[in-house]
Amino acid sequence: TTDMLLAAVLGYTLGSIPFGLLLTKIAGMGDVRDIGSGNIGATNVLRTGNKGLAAATLLLDLGKGLLAVSLAWYWFWYDVGWTALFVVIGHCFPVWLRFKGGKGVATNAGVAFGLAWQIGLAYAGVWIAMLAIFRISSVAGISAVVAAVGAAWWIDKPTFVPSLAIIAAIIIALHRENIQRLIKGEEPRVGSKK
Ligand code: G3P
Repeated sequence: TTDMLLAAVLGYTLGSIPFGLLLTKIAGMGDVRDIGSGNIGATNVLRTGNKGLAAATLLLDLGKGLLAVSLAWYWFWYDVGWTALFVVIGHCFPVWLRFKGGKGVATNAGVAFGLAWQIGLAYAGVWIAMLAIFRISSVAGISAVVAAVGAAWWIDKPTFVPSLAIIAAIIIALHRENIQRLIKGEEPRVGSKK
């Protein structure tokens, strides 16, 4: 229907704003895609050494996920899970960057909080706990993304499960290089110079 199309376009458009790339460019730090993992997310922005920019990237990428889902609740209440899926797709595959965007962990955090506070809390809790234990961003991110699917199930919101599961599959697939580095024991820890 028209509402579903509108929700998809709204989600995709908001999601496709590449805050990490924009902020580092505006700050005159060059192209974040040329350093570290080449990703445009907060973890890689942190590898420029600028903690403020990394925090801003995290908050803005999270914020667009939360905003898209909040707008969906307001305008297209039955399509929230659908909008959630498209904001993450927009972030991961932005047309402006020839479909090569971020890995979706921060945006999906905003989505999780937007869908239900319990899902958001599970996501943030697992993310922070795993980061505290392992200090590896990809491990924490993948764990949180999977936890969100479990949390939706647990709190009896089965309508969110398909979207969150597809999102999890996309995010895990985008972490394949990280997973290969993890297997080789070469995945850098947060705050290391690599
Ligand atoms: O959200 C992306 C994070 O999980 C990994 O980032 O730069 O280490 O590939 P990066």
